[in-house]
Amino acid sequence: MSCLRALLGLGLLVGGARVAVRAGSVRGSCPSREWSLLIREIRTGSAMDNSPRYMSQEEAQAVDEELFNEYKFSVDQLMELAGLSCAVAITKAYPVSSFTSNFPTVLVVCGPGNNGGDGLVCARHLKLFGYLPAIHYPKRPNKTLFDNLTTQCQKMDIAFLSEFPQEPKLIDGAYNLVVDAIFGFSFKGAVREPFGNILSLLKRITIPIASVDIPSGWDVEKGNAEGIQPDMLISLTAPKQSAVHFTGRYHFLGGRFVPLALEKKYKLNLPPYPGTECVQKLS
Ligand SMILES: NC(=O)c1ccc[n+]([C@@H]2O[C@H](COP(=O)([O-])OP(=O)(O)OC[C@H]3O[C@@H](n4cnc5c(N)ncnc54)[C@H](OP(=O)(O)O)[C@@H]3O)[C@@H](O)[C@H]2O)c1
Repeated sequence: MSCLRALLGLGLLVGGARVAVRAGSVRGSCPSREWSLLIREIRTGSAMDNSPRYMSQEEAQAVDEELFNEYKFSVDQLMELAGLSCAVAITKAYPVSSFTSNFPTVLVVCGPGNNGGDGLVCARHLKLFGYLPAIHYPKRPNKTLFDNLTTQCQKMDIAFLSEFPQEPKLIDGAYNLVVDAIFGFSFKGAVREPFGNILSLLKRITIPIASVDIPSGWDVEKGNAEGIQPDMLISLTAPKQSAVHFTGRYHFLGGRFVPLALEKKYKLNLPPYPGTECVQKLS
């Protein structure tokens, strides 16, 4: 508990001797794992359990509202951090060097809500990270935020596909990865066009799919055994209940912007992010 005392600012000088005892070989400074444990102790007041709690749709929407209304974040701010997290997670799971084709092409499919906005931000960062993203964005909301994100991508020479390739093999042949940023936690009911057609094509491709927050077409809580089965899921803020049905290889947590008080209120039990990382691998 000596580092804990130090963290809490309780008598740094007095606590110093105990720090040395607990930290042992690190001579008075806590190694990062130690810090993580202690921070978790402070956050939860209990022994460390690194599993985040999975949120219902209602909780996800309530956290969203609170971030905007109580904590005064703007949509742009959170979208930038969320989209950046997605791009960073993708670089960890699918580094450019892992692609077998000569061109590190990625198809980013964006939906009509904020999940689609995360996709646009992700595409912009992927381009900066050395990938060759192309975007399909069939239903664009009439809002300045989305217009601006679109312009930013266009000015970075990211291609916008006006038509979605109608054969799975065309997608498999032209791209290495699909980023699914179609629907997030506000998805409800039967899928409406043009997204029904897109999702049925995505079900038949063989290249991996990385889904942003929720695999599109999945019920936010119950999942969808008949739907797309992504290879990667990047849960934003905290995983949603449908994530228990995710069977892909990579599950990351991103969106490192949740204030501690909000995390505690919703008992999210978020695992500590390593160092300055904006993503955390969950499985
Ligand atoms: N604030 C946060 O906590 C936070 C943080 C990070 C990221 N985000 C991102 O924001 C996302 C949530 O954004 P959002 O609330 O705008 O929701 P969304 O799930 O991205 O999009 C909702 C829109 O999708 C369309 N839609 C819903 N169900 C449909 C269906 N069955 N068929 C066809 N279209 C359907 C509707 O558009 P139409 O009305 O046009 O049909 C609806 O307005 C998160 O999942 C995450 O990606 C949020």
